Formats: sequence, structure tokens, C-alpha cells
Amino acid sequence: MRNITRIRNLQRISAGLKRQGRKIALVPTMGALHRGHLSLVTKAQKLADTTIVSIYVNPKQFGEGEDHERYPRQLSADRAKLKKLGVNILFAPDDAEMYPGGYSTFVEVEGVTSKLEGVHRPGHFRGVTTIVMKLLQAASPDLAVFGQKDAQQALVIKKMVSELNVPVKIVVAPTVREDSGLAMSSRNQYLNEEQKERATCIYRGLRLGGQMVIEGETDPARVVESITDIIENTPGTRIDYVSVNDANSLDDLDNIGGRALISAAVWLDGVRLIDNIVCAPGRRRKKHRHD
Ligand code: PAF
Repeated sequence: MRNITRIRNLQRISAGLKRQGRKIALVPTMGALHRGHLSLVTKAQKLADTTIVSIYVNPKQFGEGEDHERYPRQLSADRAKLKKLGVNILFAPDDAEMYPGGYSTFVEVEGVTSKLEGVHRPGHFRGVTTIVMKLLQAASPDLAVFGQKDAQQALVIKKMVSELNVPVKIVVAPTVREDSGLAMSSRNQYLNEEQKERATCIYRGLRLGGQMVIEGETDPARVVESITDIIENTPGTRIDYVSVNDANSLDDLDNIGGRALISAAVWLDGVRLIDNIVCAPGRRRKKHRHD
């Protein structure tokens, strides 16, 4: 596995690979790699000849008072995991490389970024789209793989590459869960076993909501209420949002008539967790797919 830290070097290597006709996949991450990330890598490897994984804890997507300083950084353990999987290139730049002094250019997707996560994390998506655009410029991949756990992020990135005519295919891979149902997240490292057990209320709630929709409930408010009850009955929780939206546009729904994204952001003992499922009336979800 090649370890690259400079954008110019990655651009040069990527251009060389392209000349050889190789298909390149990029898996952007912030490190602290878990099985969810590794499933993105495996997906990338299936779809491309060369897989580049980036690890960069992007300061511009963390708001004031958020966990940028505390965010787990485990570069040597991550490197070992990626090497074992047979990843071709690890791109792990530092802040000076990504945002040199006087940095002033940002990418902003309007509309879809002002809902859900955007309400509670102002500026977050501006940071995400900016860094993802920079990573795409650095790696020039044919495809880039993101996780469905960050459903809104995936939609925002798809919109960005479409509207800015970036020639890359965005692939979204299913959420990977613990046996308990808890969605894999680097932030789960902030939780002990007992807290993780309580955190399963989020997926339990979402699943119940999904079941209600499958069984014919069309009123989003009733779905939200049932999920909220389950989460609020769990000690130590505080809900940022539980929401049912159109799965493609994230539009608010008066009525659930097609594919709906049911999503939640919940604080558990001071740790913010997000999760979602996609469901449609009368359509049973495949187990642990489309989450
Ligand atoms: O999903 C993440 O880990 C991050 O938001 C991403 C896409 C790597 C951008 O920093």
C-alpha cells in the first residue's frame, strides 16, 4: 500500500493509473475505521481496479463546541487494517496540505442542506462538500463510495457532483450494524457497553416506524410519535430530530406514499448519534439492506 500525504503526488499517481486504463475508486473517511468503513472499501474494490482510501479529520465540517478535538485518531491502526484488505493507496494529508494559510474557497449546496442535520449542525455540509470536492480533485476517481448511514450527506454529494459536472459515480453502500442493531460509527467509541445497549433504542424506534409504514400507516406524524416514545423512554437520551422525508428529495411529507427516509439524531449521555432506514408502504425491507 502506498502512503501519500501530498495532493500533487496523488494527482500524478492517479493520472498515471488513468493512462494505464485503470478504474479508480475513492473511499473518503475520517479514520477510526470500523466494519462499516471496511465494507465501503470492499465495495470499492469490487467496482474498481485501484482503491484509494482517504483519512482526514476535516476541521471545516465540525461546528463550534463539537467533537473535532476529541474525534478518534488512530492512523497506524487504520493503516494496518487497510493494508490487510489490500488497499492500493492511503491518502492521509494534514491540515496545512488541505487548507493552506489564507484558504478561502468553499462549495455550498443549497436547499437540501438546510434540513435535518443542516438545522442542528449549521455549516456542517459546507465543510463536507468542500472537502469532498477537494478529495475528488486530488484523486480523480471514477467512483466514490459513501455510507447510507449518512443518508443526507450522500444525497448532498450526489447533488454536488451532478450540478458541478464532476465526472464521478457516487456509490452508496448499506449501513453496517452491530448484532444489537446499533449502526457502526466512529463515535460509538465514546460509548461504553451499557451506553451502547441503550443506544439501540434508535434503531429499535426506526424499525418500528418502518414496520408501521409497511403495514399501511401513511401519517408521518404518527410514525414520528411512536419512534419518539421509544427513544424518550430510554434514559440519557435527548432527541435533535426524528423525521420522515421523501427518500430522494428529503422534502417533508404530508403523506407517506412512496420511498421514505426515516431518520433520527439523538444525544445519548452527551454523544450525538444518527441513523436512518428507508421504507415504502407495503414493501418489506430486506434485512439490513437499504439502511
Ligand atoms: O462521512 C465522513 O466520514 C465524512 O463526512 C467525509 C465524507 C469523509 C468528509 O470528511
